Amino acid sequence: MKTLVTANQKGGVGKTSTLVHLAFDFFERGLRVAVIDLDPQGNASYTLKDFATGLHASKLFGAVPAGGWTETAPAAGDGQAARLALIESDPVLANAERLSLDDARELFGANIKALAKQGFDVCLIDTAPTLGVGLAAALFAADYVLSPIELEAYSIQGIKKMVTTIANVRQKNAKLQFLGMVPSKVDARNPRHVRHQAELLAAYPKMMIPATVGLRSSIADALASGVPVWKIKKTAARKASKEVRALADYVFTKMEISQ
Ligand SMILES: Nc1ncnc2c1ncn2[C@@H]1O[C@H](COP(=O)(O)OP(=O)(O)OP(=O)(O)O)[C@@H](O)[C@H]1O
Ligand SMILES: [Mg+2]
Repeated sequence: MKTLVTANQKGGVGKTSTLVHLAFDFFERGLRVAVIDLDPQGNASYTLKDFATGLHASKLFGAVPAGGWTETAPAAGDGQAARLALIESDPVLANAERLSLDDARELFGANIKALAKQGFDVCLIDTAPTLGVGLAAALFAADYVLSPIELEAYSIQGIKKMVTTIANVRQKNAKLQFLGMVPSKVDARNPRHVRHQAELLAAYPKMMIPATVGLRSSIADALASGVPVWKIKKTAARKASKEVRALADYVFTKMEISQ
């Protein structure tokens, strides 16, 4: 099981949108996908509610049950085919922030290993916009991290912190690979966005993903309706679908997921 985290301590930059679309895309490819919503806001849980397993994300900061996480197993009759299993955000999740970093890392790490035993090909973890214990535990357990960013000054200001955090975690989790930053909610007609994108590319030439997602209301429509943007029947959704599919393709290839 390969594990990817979407992370950026700045809020509203497209972490959840990216994560949910990766989940739909990978699921459609026939993969077994687990989504863990570590954000108490529960946005990914809202969009993916049809895929709820009943397992709450807070449980992944406790002891692994003797029999493993059987809640995430396919229902009788589903066979072993592709599946998307949501481990949803719950109110108790906020208590994880009170754990010591070492405890959270050990407990969450053991639970990710137990989840892998359920036969998932990929595990996608959505995180809250804070540099807290939850985000750290996710980064310690992950193989890949992806940072959606907005091409606005506050977002760019915060990215240095994110890059430093990832570098620090890599000292203890050497397998963690930073896939890079993906500009989201980009308005190509906005000169400020164009300028910021050029500046980022100059400052972080190796960290910019060669894909962007435009500012497109069809994406917000999709997230509200619990479907990927390619299921939205509007002409305007076509461009958004193309961009999101291209990003998913890039991430899929980089993650070298095997079934
Ligand atoms: N490409 C896009 N075009 C237009 N709106 C978008 C796009 N991506 C996301 N949005 C909208 O922008 C808002 C923030 O996006 P999203 O929830 O994905 O960001 P986030 O980084 O997960 O936020 P948070 O830090 O609060 O978890 C949402 O209301 C979403 O519907
Ligand atoms: Mg989010």
